[in-house]
Amino acid sequence: MPLAPKRMRDSQTVISHLMQLTDANPVGNVHGGVIMRLVDEVAGIAAARHVGRPVVTVAIDSMSFYSPIYVGNLVTVKASLNYVGRTSMEVGVRVEAEDVLTGQITHTNSAYLVYVALDENGQPVEVPPLIAETPEEERWMMEGKRRQEERLRRRRADEAQRES
Ligand SMILES: CC(C)(COP(=O)(O)OP(=O)(O)OC[C@H]1O[C@@H](n2cnc3c(N)ncnc32)[C@H](O)[C@@H]1OP(=O)(O)O)[C@@H](O)C(=O)NCCC(=O)NCCS
Repeated sequence: MPLAPKRMRDSQTVISHLMQLTDANPVGNVHGGVIMRLVDEVAGIAAARHVGRPVVTVAIDSMSFYSPIYVGNLVTVKASLNYVGRTSMEVGVRVEAEDVLTGQITHTNSAYLVYVALDENGQPVEVPPLIAETPEEERWMMEGKRRQEERLRRRRADEAQRES
């Protein structure tokens, strides 16, 4: 039986986390790896919410940090599914850091991650179709499809190079 489609907003996930001294790098700013972990965690929750099954990360697109995040900042990570294939899901993530004393919010980075849903035997399993409800969501979906096609082209090229 075909899986019931789900809306983007049904799985959108937002998590806020106060940066602590233990999150700092030797320079005193927040360690990039702390943010990467949070990004993977929140995006993974959105993907798992969509499919209602365990998911694993299969790809993370490049991540740039536009400005530093400081200890004491409240970091908010927002994740939304952009596109789904047969067993894979692309999730877009936006990271913002808030100086809670001034209320100033800075967009520090964005990222795209791809997850695969797994069945009871750890094998890729079909995911529900994704519904875009607004022109903006339709654009996200189109762009996500284009990015996924590009990833798969790169994967095929990598595989061909490994085999040569
Ligand atoms: C995820 C995993 C089960 C997929 O296995 P696989 O043999 O590549 O399976 P498939 O080729 O059927 O790919 C499954 C889906 O992933 C997608 N995919 C595979 N490699 C990809 C890549 N590099 N980028 C984007 N999507 C990719 C495929 O297109 C497919 O999606 P679709 O069904 O929507 O078209 C396997 O690669 C794996 O276990 N990876 C490790 C995952 C993990 O442990 N992550 C945490 C890292 S610490």
